[in-house]
Amino acid sequence: MHPAWCHQTLFAFTLIAISTPSATQNTVATAGSELVVPTTLTRVSSVIGGEADLPCDSRPPRGNDSLLLVVWYRDEDPVYSYDTREPGPTGHWSDDSFGGRVHWIDLPTSALHVRDIGSHDRAIYRCRVDFQVSPTRNYRVALDVVELPSKPVIFDEFGNEITGVVGPYNEGDDFKLICTVTGGNPMPRVQWLQGDSVLATLGPGEFQPTVGSRSLTLAVTNATRAHLSSVYTCSADNTILSTPQRTSVRLDLYLRPLTVEILSREQPLSVGRKAELWCKTTGARPPATITWWIGDTRLDSVTKLMDVDDRNETQSLLQWTPQKAHNGQELTCRAEHDKFNRSTIESKLTLNIYYVPEARMHLGAKMNPNDIEEGDDVYFGCDVDANPPAYKVIWEHNGIVLQHNPVNGVILTGNTNLALRNISRHQAGLYTCTASNVEGDGKSPPLKMQIVYRPLCRKREIKLIGAALQEPSMVECEVDAFPPPDTFEWTLNNSAGSIKVDPERFTVNSKDGISILKYIPVSDVDYGTLACRATNLAGQQVAPCVYTLLPATHPEPPHNCTVYNLTDDSLDLICLIGYEGGLSCTYIAEVWANEGLVVNSTNTATVWNLRRLGAKRHLKIVVYAANSRGRSEHISFTVETAPRLAPRTEAQEAWEVNWAVGGVLGAAITVAIILCLALIATRFKHHSTNYEVSMQSSKNQKTSLQKRNTPDDCNPDLIPLSKDIGDCPKPPEYSTVVANTEAKNSGSVHSLARTHSPTTPLSAQNTELQNDRNNTNGLRTHREVVTTRTPLLAAHQESCV
Ligand SMILES: *[C@@H]1O[C@H](CO)[C@@H](O)[C@H](O)[C@H]1NC(C)=O
Ligand SMILES: *[C@@H]1O[C@H](CO)[C@@H](O)[C@H](O)[C@H]1NC(C)=O
Ligand SMILES: *[C@@H]1O[C@H](CO)[C@@H](O)[C@H](O)[C@H]1NC(C)=O
Ligand SMILES: *[C@@H]1O[C@H](CO)[C@@H](O)[C@H](O)[C@H]1NC(C)=O
Ligand SMILES: *[C@@H]1O[C@H](CO)[C@@H](O)[C@H](O)[C@H]1NC(C)=O
Repeated sequence: MHPAWCHQTLFAFTLIAISTPSATQNTVATAGSELVVPTTLTRVSSVIGGEADLPCDSRPPRGNDSLLLVVWYRDEDPVYSYDTREPGPTGHWSDDSFGGRVHWIDLPTSALHVRDIGSHDRAIYRCRVDFQVSPTRNYRVALDVVELPSKPVIFDEFGNEITGVVGPYNEGDDFKLICTVTGGNPMPRVQWLQGDSVLATLGPGEFQPTVGSRSLTLAVTNATRAHLSSVYTCSADNTILSTPQRTSVRLDLYLRPLTVEILSREQPLSVGRKAELWCKTTGARPPATITWWIGDTRLDSVTKLMDVDDRNETQSLLQWTPQKAHNGQELTCRAEHDKFNRSTIESKLTLNIYYVPEARMHLGAKMNPNDIEEGDDVYFGCDVDANPPAYKVIWEHNGIVLQHNPVNGVILTGNTNLALRNISRHQAGLYTCTASNVEGDGKSPPLKMQIVYRPLCRKREIKLIGAALQEPSMVECEVDAFPPPDTFEWTLNNSAGSIKVDPERFTVNSKDGISILKYIPVSDVDYGTLACRATNLAGQQVAPCVYTLLPATHPEPPHNCTVYNLTDDSLDLICLIGYEGGLSCTYIAEVWANEGLVVNSTNTATVWNLRRLGAKRHLKIVVYAANSRGRSEHISFTVETAPRLAPRTEAQEAWEVNWAVGGVLGAAITVAIILCLALIATRFKHHSTNYEVSMQSSKNQKTSLQKRNTPDDCNPDLIPLSKDIGDCPKPPEYSTVVANTEAKNSGSVHSLARTHSPTTPLSAQNTELQNDRNNTNGLRTHREVVTTRTPLLAAHQESCV
């Protein structure tokens, strides 16, 4: 079977003449021979349905000769003849078995052409050629009819027919492909091919037990990724006249992942700050599954799968918030393939996670936190858990940073130890340590240090208690102590000596360190000094809390009053509290104007916010205290509210015009002043002591304000500026003119000039009487000019009462 002899055309016939050396030797036949002379055999092949030319040399051997008759025999039966003596188609005859499928072709081909060959055409034919002159010639031609085998069918080892794709198998698997071919005459050759290379062959002569079909098995062991997409072809052929029958399958394989890699490896990470990490795996088919793990914990974080085409690559993004516990652990990116049992491959990253330091404080090892006394030395340690390590640790006591100060007994050693030498009870409280690194500051939970000490009075000064006979007074004794006091002890010192108070008469509130004694003086003897002592674990109080019991009295008035925030309508007043007479007091501020009471304000403290006073009014403020024993003396002083910042009224202008006429009145006024002075001279002795107008009275000042509700209130000599002269308003004794030195109110300035005698000395708490003339009705009045100077009011608090 030399390819050089091959002509291949699908469904076309191919005639191959194999000439043996004797083929050209014409056997010399005797003239007129009827004898069938054995001659050489020419083989001609054709596939079923094909065509073939059965050769038969019809050239006359000599030039003057010519062909007479060609007869074809099969098995010595004539099946076809061609008679040159008959013209046209009638010269051709064929047997029924050939029908119209055969036709003699003249020179130069000189062959019997057979079409549509069937298996029954397989035979040895003889061609007899008769010439006019020359002897008859015979040729023998064998027609081989080839039956093509069926198209191969491929099965897997389980007998399932495979078309197109085989698999998918797992990488590393063994598998078999069985190619089955049926039919074919002659017996076909079956082959497994991969590309051009032959993997297995079943030769035509090889025996197979099955009848009618031939099978060839291809066994593939350990399929590797190189086998992926390999095309295996089963080929069956039994003739070169036709292309081999072929069936191909393509191999599909599952491949395990080859590489896995955590891509972004930037470290350190920070606790609580979202981190993004990529992991890439390649080589798997279909794409591998990527999972992230820390230890045995799978990270649930959002994972995005990305298949990068053409690179068999899968990427996964881990978005994850590191936690402190992750530091030092291994982060694993795991690529696996569910088709394989042991396909998992991993990439690991040891985590370096920064976090804010965590600090924890502890007392020195040998210290008993419940037994720290004043004078002890105390040690603290600070345990710091930090990454990166803390570069600094600071200590705080009740929120105040402690500095290293060996002289005061504060010693900081290393970064994490604090020693306090010879502690005092003031060093009790909350201690913290704070460690810092690049991530921030971590403060320890506070550690409470308690120092055991004996009770101490919460208030140092000796308290005066005013107690009325037969009336209960509550005396409260408050002590500081740690641990809280267990017992209290009260003693009374009086002229009779020192007596312990019956415990039934006082209550004890250990938790707050308070004992309240309900004390009822029965007789004068019961006044004296009360002392209270508490006792706790550390011992008994050394210095007792002392209370002086005095008979309750009415209070002393407030003193040292100061005016703030003076406006055109309001003012704020603050005074100091005087002795309260041993009882709780209320404090009253009354504001009086000429026409009567303006504001009456009562308060439990010596602070008043006085409102709605009216603009530019001369006001008298009376301040006193009251308790259940009675009222204090009064103190009073005058104030003028600021003018309203408004355009001048017509009345004011009118007054200015009138003043021009005032010169006429000048003489009358002069007379009035003289009369006034004369009057003062007679009255001064009687009344000077009745007035105390002070901004700075104290409880030691014995002079008192003019008593209210005394007959003097209606002193006829003190005629108020009030128009209602006949009436006696309460308190009628106040008639106030406050000199106004503000230049813009020229009327007042002049009024003042006329009011004061130039020779009158003006000084604080100095009272003088001056005669003045009443502008409106011309009546003479007595006026007491009181000049008070306080830091605030000095500028214009000159009153003429
Ligand atoms: C991806 O798969 C193809 C075949 O499908 C292969 O030729 C190639 O080498 C693979 N690439 C990688 C990175 O695994
Ligand atoms: C009470 O009197 C005693 C002696 O009578 C004296 O020792 C003690 O100090 C007095 N206590 C007070 C608080 O005055
Ligand atoms: C109260 O006034 C008196 C007498 O003017 C003065 O000595 C004392 O210092 C004042 N006290 C205060 C607290 O202002
Ligand atoms: C004065 O006024 C201011 C602001 O209204 C207020 O804060 C302050 O308490 C007032 N002063 C007094 C003594 O009332
Ligand atoms: C002012 O109020 C107090 C207490 O409310 C009262 O005792 C006092 O009489 C009042 N003063 C006047 C003048 O009404």
